[in-house]
Amino acid sequence: MDSFEFTKIAGAVLSALLLIFGVKTAIDMNVGHTPEKPGFVLPAAAPAETAKPAEAAAATAPAAGGGEEVVALLAKANPENGKAIFTKCQACHVSEKGKAPTVGPNLWDVVNRPKASYPGFSYSDAMKKKGGDWSFAELAHFLHGPKTFVPGTKMVFSGLPSSSDEADVIAYLATLADTPVPLPK
Ligand code: HEC
Repeated sequence: MDSFEFTKIAGAVLSALLLIFGVKTAIDMNVGHTPEKPGFVLPAAAPAETAKPAEAAAATAPAAGGGEEVVALLAKANPENGKAIFTKCQACHVSEKGKAPTVGPNLWDVVNRPKASYPGFSYSDAMKKKGGDWSFAELAHFLHGPKTFVPGTKMVFSGLPSSSDEADVIAYLATLADTPVPLPK
């Protein structure tokens, strides 16, 4: 192969590379600008105690009020109604003592249980890092806005339509134990 032929081949290879690079850049320029979900949650949105950002509230359409409102409703919550509402949770949760977890962890005896502790269930890192026990207040905040209370949780659930429904379902969870946990007064 003489040097002229080599130059032609090298030139062809180079222009092919340029073309590939050019097309890739063009694609990146277009694709790179499609809106993506932010990879982090702004600190202001992280604690459930603070107000929800309007955007998150619109996206998940949770019940009005906050987790505190749910806690306040617990004293007169209706576990029977909660049992009926719990059928929505059963898409992902079993709640019979000793039964193997399904999509979500088994919820038998969940009130006052340490978070992310059901044996044999693979929790998200976010839930494992949250720490502490499932007090009534923490359950209220979590059910009211799972992704607000535990950013990064794998519980894909947007919340119940009303705070009293949330209180009722928590009152039902409290009955799921050998010794049911008394509701806060
Ligand atoms: C679409 C499936 C799905 C639905 C519906 C769902 N959950 Fe969950 N839930 C999960 C998953 C998955 C987890 C584990 C979350 C993690 O590891 O981040 C979880 C975790 C939980 C936990 C924490 C338990 C623990 O052991 O730490 C509670 C409490 C809970 N869910 C209650 C409920 C209640 C009450 C409902 C109904 C109102 C409900 N969930 C509806 C999937 C679901």
